[in-house]
Formats: sequence, C-alpha cells, structure tokens
Amino acid sequence: MVAGVVSVFTGTAQAAESTLGAAAAQSGRYYGTAVAASKLGDSTYSTILRREFNSITAENEMKWDATEPNRNQFNYGNGDRIASQARSQGAALRGHALLWHQQQPGWAQGLSGSDLRSAAINHVTQVATHYRGQIHSWDVVNEAFADGNSGGRRDSNLQRTGNDWIEAAFRAARTADPNAKLCYNDYNTDGINAKSTGIYNMVADFKNRGVPIDCVGIQSHLSSNSNMSTYQANLQRFADLGVDLQITELDVGGSGSGQANVYRQVTQACMAVSRCTGITTWGVTDRYTWRPNDTPLLFDSNYQKKQAYQSVLDALNGGGGNPGTGTPLRGAGSNRCLDVPNQATATGTRLNIWDCNGQANQQWTYTSAQELTVYSGGTLRCLDASGAGTANGTPVIIWTCHGGANQKWNRNSDGTIRNVQSGLCVEVSGSGTANGSQVQLWSCSGGNNQRWATQ
Ligand code: XIL
Repeated sequence: MVAGVVSVFTGTAQAAESTLGAAAAQSGRYYGTAVAASKLGDSTYSTILRREFNSITAENEMKWDATEPNRNQFNYGNGDRIASQARSQGAALRGHALLWHQQQPGWAQGLSGSDLRSAAINHVTQVATHYRGQIHSWDVVNEAFADGNSGGRRDSNLQRTGNDWIEAAFRAARTADPNAKLCYNDYNTDGINAKSTGIYNMVADFKNRGVPIDCVGIQSHLSSNSNMSTYQANLQRFADLGVDLQITELDVGGSGSGQANVYRQVTQACMAVSRCTGITTWGVTDRYTWRPNDTPLLFDSNYQKKQAYQSVLDALNGGGGNPGTGTPLRGAGSNRCLDVPNQATATGTRLNIWDCNGQANQQWTYTSAQELTVYSGGTLRCLDASGAGTANGTPVIIWTCHGGANQKWNRNSDGTIRNVQSGLCVEVSGSGTANGSQVQLWSCSGGNNQRWATQ
C-alpha cells in the first residue's frame, strides 16, 4: 500500500453506464422524457424511449381537456396508453397536470366561482383516483404564479375562485392517491427570482400548515444563453424546506457546446442536491418538439445523439466536468501535472509534466467514451497514442477526438491509465520529475511514474 494514492480516480472504478436511465439510476435518480401517445408507433422513437429513459410523463394526454372533455365524462384512452408504455418498459410514470389555466376543456373555461371550484376539485379527485397506484408523481397544479416581479399568483379563472384553490387541489389529490408524490410545477423558476421566491413562500407556508406537498417541479425551458448562476442554489433552498425537486420539462434551445453546457449544468446541479430526484426532458427528439425552431432536445431530428446527450451522460456518470475545466492528473512520482506545453492546441503536441496550476491545459475530462479530453468547443482535444503506436516509448500527444482505440483509456484504481489499443500505460519518461519531462507509453508496471491522481 503506497501512501498518497488512495484517492486516485475516486468514484470512477464503477463502470460508466451507457444510457441515461441507467446512469441516473447509479445515484438513485431517474431520467425521463415527455411522451406523446401519437408517436409510440414510430419504431425508432420507441426504441430510443425504451433504451434511454426510465420515467415517462404524458405530454398532453392527462391534461384536463384530454381527460374530461365533457363535465363528469372522463376519457382515459390516451392517458392509459402512456401508462401502459411506462409499465411495459419498467419506467416510472409522472402525471401531468391536474389543474392548469391552459388546456382546460371549453366547458370549464366557461365556469366561475363555486361551480368552477367544485368542478376542479372533482376533476382532481376523479383523475387521481383513476390513476391511483400507477403514478410516481403528480403535477397537481401547474403554472399558477405570475411572471415578472410581483411574486404573486397569476390571474386565472381558477385563481378567481379563491387563493386557497391550490391547497384544496393538493388535499384532494392526497386523499385520492396517498402514495403519489404531489408536486407544484412551474417555469421561469430557473434561479432565485421573484417568481421562484413567490413559490418558495407558498411551499414554506404549506409545510408550516401541513398542506400536503412533496415536490416542486422546475420545468427548465432554457436556451444556450440562460443564466444558470443561481440554478443550483434555487434547488437547494427548496430542498431545505423539506420538499423534493424534479426537473420536469427540460429543453434547451441551441446547438453544439453552448447547448451541451447548459444541459451539463442542469444535470450537475441536480446531482449536487440530494433531494433533486430526477430529470425529465420535454421530448425525445428534435423531430417532435413543442419548440420546433429551437432544436432543444438530446436527439436530433434524425434520432442521432447530440453533443448535449454526451454531456448529460457524462455528468450522470459523475464526470462531465466543464470541458476544459475538468480534473488535474497529478503524477505520483513527480507531484507535477499532466500538461500540454504552452497551452498548445496543435494536434501532435506532445505532453509533459509541469507544476500543477489549474489552467485549461491541465484539465482532463474522462468521458463515457473512455476518452481523456482537454480544452473545449473547437479546440477540444483527446489524449492520443501517437501514430496509434503500440511500442514502448510511443509519445503521448493531443489530437482531435475521433473515437479510435488509440484515444481510449482505462483508468485503474491504482491510478494507472492504460491505453485500450496497446495495453500500455501513460508514464513520465525515465521517471523524470522535472518540469518539462516528457510523457510516453510503456508496459504497465504500477511504478510511481505511471500513477496519476485527480487531486
Ligand atoms: C405543451 C406540449 O408540449 C404541447 O404539445 C402542447 O400543444 C402545449 O403544451 N409547460 C407545460 C407543458 O407544463 O404542459 C407544456 O406542454 C409546455 C409548457
């Protein structure tokens, strides 16, 4: 036992999972998506759905207009189709949404006062009773707070029945389905702002007075330039009230690394808050999205995985440091860090060791594709065995990432980094310890010039 290497690659000995649902399950979370019943017949769609997601939300099929088209006449056909899809793939089912000012049936839009209140509460009771035992979480009330700086309720026919309509809905839902988690769900709550503070105050009041509420849904309809600076702190302050958080309708307008970055930040924020129990994207593919101009989802319109997909998977697997601000790899023998000389980005640049300085040319990210990347965006580079060499002494360089076996690495619990193609290990040439000592591949010996710690 060599002192000082026990924390090498902590937490990465477990294999990285290769689907979103399995990766999320490692920390007891789910990874879900909104599903449209009308798309279940698309076999590419349903193949991805089955493979990647272990929670399903009905995109429209459990809303008031769908489930009670005429007063006291219920239609559960499409909602049940979604429920049965969830059951058949062993996914959790999120119910969405019992009461909302939008997508109300025409008959309800025409009601007011106590007549509307009793119709609304009856709706909650009937629908929650129908799905009792099948629902992991219900969005009991959706989007009841106003945008802007008031921090108050949104005006709506439901709000005009009295400020207590929300708690009445939660009490009715609890009675109808005591085992479902009951959520309040809203958008523009992606940080600490007047709207999220209004909701925070309501939840605090509910907890104080014993109104049944278990979770807050943060919809997270975002874009590449969304300000994420207080996203995690906002989740945490709700968690501190004693409710769970769920990211319920995530989509991020944009493309490439900008989009991937916001997806990563959402994922990492949820992972960092123990009461954040799962993430749902609002759809599977850019082919079918309510934001058709924004390409906001994880699979493109041809069902290919996007960069955003990889960033989410990496983050769920516990990696996914900001590309370019990943993790230093400190040599056990030299106490110096794996470094690209002079911040070079040219392909073919050979690595050396240098004093650890936290700069971008020393920040390594281990991806679920087993690459070790440095930098980000257009200068993203991969650790590479030069010329796909397999002989002792092969230089270790940076190159554009191409998925070849000479760019894939196994990170072992003793801190060694073994090339998948050659089976050779990354080492400091000649056991050098000085700044500028070169890095190469050599037969794995476990020597201290071949062990690299993340601290
Ligand atoms: C959207 C659906 O995706 C669309 O198909 C439908 O036409 C309108 O509603 N917030 C919510 C969701 O809570 O129910 C909305 O879903 C998107 C915004």
